[in-house]
Amino acid sequence: MSDGNYVFLSYSHKDNISYYIDVLNIGGYNTVFDETISFGEEWDLKVRRQLSNSRCKGMFVFLSEKSAASNAVLTEIEYAEKYNKPYAAITLNNESPQKIFAEALRSGNEMARFVIENLSVYFPQNKLYLLKNDFNLDLKGKLSQTFKEWGLLPDSNADDVFTASTYTSMILGEKERLHWQENGYVKFDNEAIDKALASLPDNNLTVLDLGCSDALVTYSRFANRPQFKKIIGVDYNQSDLDAAKERCKNDPRFCFYKVDLNSSDFCCAIKNIMQENDIKGFDLIFAAFILQHVQKPKLLLLRLFDLFNPGGKIIIRESDDGSKLCFPNDSLAEEIIKRTNAVIKSSDRIIGRKLYPYLSELGYENIELLYSIDDTINKTRREKEWLFTMGFSFRLNRIKSIYAENPGNEFLKKEIQWLENALDKLKTVFFSRDFYYTVRSYIAIGSA
Ligand SMILES: C[S@@+](CC[C@H](N)C(=O)[O-])C[C@H]1O[C@@H](n2cnc3c(N)ncnc32)[C@H](O)[C@@H]1O
Repeated sequence: MSDGNYVFLSYSHKDNISYYIDVLNIGGYNTVFDETISFGEEWDLKVRRQLSNSRCKGMFVFLSEKSAASNAVLTEIEYAEKYNKPYAAITLNNESPQKIFAEALRSGNEMARFVIENLSVYFPQNKLYLLKNDFNLDLKGKLSQTFKEWGLLPDSNADDVFTASTYTSMILGEKERLHWQENGYVKFDNEAIDKALASLPDNNLTVLDLGCSDALVTYSRFANRPQFKKIIGVDYNQSDLDAAKERCKNDPRFCFYKVDLNSSDFCCAIKNIMQENDIKGFDLIFAAFILQHVQKPKLLLLRLFDLFNPGGKIIIRESDDGSKLCFPNDSLAEEIIKRTNAVIKSSDRIIGRKLYPYLSELGYENIELLYSIDDTINKTRREKEWLFTMGFSFRLNRIKSIYAENPGNEFLKKEIQWLENALDKLKTVFFSRDFYYTVRSYIAIGSA
């Protein structure tokens, strides 16, 4: 169990520190950092509260030319000083802080100069304890030693460090689940596609399916729509792509390519595909149960802007674990969701609620949300099995696949045993006539 103590992370939003945050989290340390960008009264109150709290054991600063010129970072260090919190820094470009400050000064404006000059007081040479390379080499030792001096201990599971694998449909039982899932969303998807098509021309359309897997969904949703002249599917799993090509081999409108949606050259890769297929832009981008698996969903949504034809539409289908409600045994169901999500770290299982805010913030227009609601009332045993698998039992296979990549990990072994028992318990009531379970799925439609 966590003692609630944490380290505050200070950085510039212009720097990418997700790698380090992952490492710290995987190391079992609680971290607190400001995810919003606006620097104002609310930000100030929040940061002050977080840094003055007795559970805050110190602050870790990510130094770069950008953070050296950041008013927010300077303010955070001033608060750390004020509340007597120890702090240390890592430099993001393997230079000493002095070099970073000098470089930032060269390019900075008046305000940046003020920030840099003040910050450099807090970071004399002897304050620095990690260069980027050190971080890579002896991360665990240096971090745990420093954090221990601060009185910050990792959570009790930290000795059982494990790698949370990224999603792939090759997980045991996952193909069958995807087949069920495809079937369950035919009507919902077609309703959304019809809506999106209403404002598009009625021929020569192009569609891009992100995370198309073996094209079960791609084929079912687009093969019978003659207004599409090109249907491109991308995925990072080659064996899925081979199956997709086989499935669609008799329809030359379909093409499939290996692309990693997390990669920084994602847009370049898609543009090459567009050139190869003589496509100027996409009229529709379709993304079913994929946004939750990518590392930076908002960044992906931003990058897509470059790929649309004028008037192009996006359709995103997602779920949200918060929409899963049941009674009785609600607390057991909640615990299954909470505990398994803490292990399946690589997917955002509550992304459904974020679709509208993300699209709106990023400048998509005419956003509409469609909902598909399922429940157990008057359902056959087979239909209830579908709901149970989609909501709960698939988690066991995901965790087992993580265990397979971290063999012998005691924490994962314990979690698997607990989950097997918990699923058995829930299953016994799930199929009874009086039990109620409901879940909502989301489709967001927007214009680029
Ligand atoms: C849950 S499946 C959904 C498949 C399909 N869209 C559907 O609705 O059945 C997610 C798919 O996304 C793919 N995927 C996950 N992360 C990816 C990434 N970073 N780049 C490309 N594909 C990815 C997986 O290989 C998998 O085929």
